[in-house]
Amino acid sequence: MINLKHTGLRYDGGPEVLSDINLNLEAGSFHYLTGSSGSGKTSLMRMLHIGLLPTRGDISIFGQDIMQISRQQRADLRRDIGVIFQDFRLLPHLSVYDNIAMPLRLADISETKIETAVTEMLNWLGLKDYKSIKPAFLSGGQQQRVAIARAVITKPKILLADEPTGSLDDYMGDRIMTLFEELNKNGTAVVVATHNKGMIGRFPHHILNLKSGHLIT
Ligand SMILES: Nc1ncnc2c1ncn2[C@@H]1O[C@H](COP(=O)(O)OP(=O)(O)O)[C@@H](O)[C@H]1O
Ligand SMILES: [Mg+2]
Repeated sequence: MINLKHTGLRYDGGPEVLSDINLNLEAGSFHYLTGSSGSGKTSLMRMLHIGLLPTRGDISIFGQDIMQISRQQRADLRRDIGVIFQDFRLLPHLSVYDNIAMPLRLADISETKIETAVTEMLNWLGLKDYKSIKPAFLSGGQQQRVAIARAVITKPKILLADEPTGSLDDYMGDRIMTLFEELNKNGTAVVVATHNKGMIGRFPHHILNLKSGHLIT
């Protein structure tokens, strides 16, 4: 699904923050991305989401060479990738319900189906009393759950989650991991960047470890 060969990234002519990354993510795989703060986890996640283009090497997603396709084609590919940003990036002018419904609306799903799917997600994540509220009025943990709901609602082919349980307690964190594992069993390739050793112990999966921009597997 995603293939990186000798891929590197630098910001604005600075030093390489990712160096010679070789990675093959298959359908139905589940990986943790670990590494200390500043090791490059978020940069790698942004590259996998085609939000940043590599400054050397190759990256292909769903068999397409990302460097050879148009902006519009990249945007189309991105629709099959669910992403939970470390800083959530919710749309401030939309309610919780509308934030979660947005990717389904972009995919032209009927409002009846959207209501069923969003309501189920709100219930699972303990957010049903907040559906009409704007993100600014939510706690960090609640905002994080909305970002998670928005990323998984389309059952994407690839799910990228950047420290998705950082603002959640263990009970909710485990619920989220159960949700990710369910998607994964249905074929979604999952990558979770995390520091949470307890979670890795309770939900064991392959580990990709970054050290100063180098992948150590
Ligand atoms: N937008 C940016 N511009 C310049 N340097 C950046 C930017 N984002 C991250 N970096 C640098 O890239 C390195 C990796 O950062 P990051 O990917 O955020 O690591 P992590 O998520 O593992 O903490 C750090 O040295 C950081 O300072
Ligand atoms: Mg980060």
